[in-house]
Amino acid sequence: MADQTLQTLYVSELRDLYSSEQQLVKALPKIVKAVESEELSDAIANHLEETKNQVSRLEQIFESLGETPKGKKCVGMQGILDEGSEVIDDFEGSVLDAGVISAAQRVEHYEIAAYGSVCAYAELLQRSEDLGLLKETLEEEKNADEKLTQLSETINQDALQSSSKRDSDLGRQQAKRETSRSRKTRTAA
Ligand SMILES: [Fe+2]
Repeated sequence: MADQTLQTLYVSELRDLYSSEQQLVKALPKIVKAVESEELSDAIANHLEETKNQVSRLEQIFESLGETPKGKKCVGMQGILDEGSEVIDDFEGSVLDAGVISAAQRVEHYEIAAYGSVCAYAELLQRSEDLGLLKETLEEEKNADEKLTQLSETINQDALQSSSKRDSDLGRQQAKRETSRSRKTRTAA
């Protein structure tokens, strides 16, 4: 454990991010298809393209560091994505969309924290080219998060309405059952 420098930590966290971004490139197409809202689907598809670009930026940084990007699996991102898959399995319609927004915002916040740290390390290590690239990505993550907040305003409302519609449908069904039951009772008497 002699090699515990900030530079080592920097490379290690960049590898973690590389793994995160690659997991996202794999996971996002399924989410693009699963959501109901076209606007949400477009926003996620757009972020998928940005994410591919973020992978390239990291590769560029690794190349200039003379290091390999591989060798680490980001289990944090894996956990967040697993929970996102649960939402897709457990819900549907606008409620699923609301859940996907919540999961996607967890992804963004996780990445914002990680990119914030590596930006600070890049600055201290005087890796100014890396810093430029990392800041571009950080901005994209922040914008994606803001876009999701914006979309959640209508989608959460839709989810609320679809739940109350479901409740009133269930209420109507129940009332129908009760009417036919009381009719049967009357006929029997
Ligand atoms: Fe990203």
